[in-house]
Amino acid sequence: MTEPHGPATEAVDVSRETTGYGSADVSRETPTGGAHVSRETEFDTPIAREAAQAVHVLNVRQENWPKPQQTRVLTVANQKGGVGKTTTTVNLAAALALHGLRVLVIDLDPQGNASTALGIDHTVGSPSIYDVILGGRTLADVASTSDTTDNLLCVPATLDLAGADIELTSQVAREYRLQRAVAAFLDQEPSPADGGVDYILIDCPPSLGLLTLNALVAAREMLIPIQCEYYALEGLAQLLNTVELVKSHLNPKLAVTTVLLTMYDSRTRLADQVADEVRAHFGKLVLEPVIPRNVRVSEAPGFGQTVITYDPGSRGAIGYLQAAREIAERAVASGADAEETQQ
Ligand SMILES: Nc1ncnc2c1ncn2[C@@H]1O[C@H](COP(=O)(O)OP(=O)(O)O)[C@@H](O)[C@H]1O
Ligand SMILES: [Mg+2]
Repeated sequence: MTEPHGPATEAVDVSRETTGYGSADVSRETPTGGAHVSRETEFDTPIAREAAQAVHVLNVRQENWPKPQQTRVLTVANQKGGVGKTTTTVNLAAALALHGLRVLVIDLDPQGNASTALGIDHTVGSPSIYDVILGGRTLADVASTSDTTDNLLCVPATLDLAGADIELTSQVAREYRLQRAVAAFLDQEPSPADGGVDYILIDCPPSLGLLTLNALVAAREMLIPIQCEYYALEGLAQLLNTVELVKSHLNPKLAVTTVLLTMYDSRTRLADQVADEVRAHFGKLVLEPVIPRNVRVSEAPGFGQTVITYDPGSRGAIGYLQAAREIAERAVASGADAEETQQ
């Protein structure tokens, strides 16, 4: 972290130069490559060089990232649709999990896109977050292990959840359902130092309804993905207002700790302008790495994968790896995770 208010172009350059993942500049946007390109074994072409890099990235267990002292619970929220909430949740989760951290993803969007990206069954009727919020089951009961790594667990969402906002309306403690489930789960878990879950990431639906409210009440931290596009800042005031309401009435411990710029297109001035504006407003809450717009990122869910495993040498994967590392290192550096425990 050097200059949080600096122009986004600088930020991107800095992030590219200072990581162990090397340069991410070579274009990989070939339509046929897929995951296999990264696993070529020739070393005298650009693709092969990237393949070597990809193998290095996949072989990530050689570098373990620091564990938080207590489980960090982050809600990924922004009521705008298509800003990269789900993509951010699953890719950060995979990146953290592949670096020795235990991660639980809670899919709270009836569309179940996070479940899809993590390759977890979410057909209607299968055990899901719906059964936790409205059926009294435990998170541990309905969590499945992702194929990516044993360190990555997911509580899927099914379309059953689509009615939850309405069903919750008449329930007792309707805003606290997820918080209670998370607290009960953590009660049963050892601390991170003893092998318990290090991170819980909650993927929200694109609304500020009761599901998102449950996520904000359940978490200590909020991560806001902001798309580097024209209307990116629209609705942010409403989002921050909701956060303030939640803090004053439902969960005083909630804090916006992280902002991530997504779908950054270095060819447009607009992306830079949006990035500048976001950095001017949120200061050092904004992660230094920026996630580039990269077709590999959008292809990965079609294969039930995150881009971290689908094409680990791609610019998108590298962006998310850098962002995840900064998230892991920041908390430890600031001691933010050493405060009293989640209720
Ligand atoms: N960095 C990126 N590059 C290219 N496409 C992306 C990127 N991030 C997200 N996408 C695509 O944009 C769409 C919206 O992203 P998504 O994560 O589903 O947003 P949200 O969960 O906020 O609705 C998806 O099709 C996703 O694959
Ligand atoms: Mg989503």
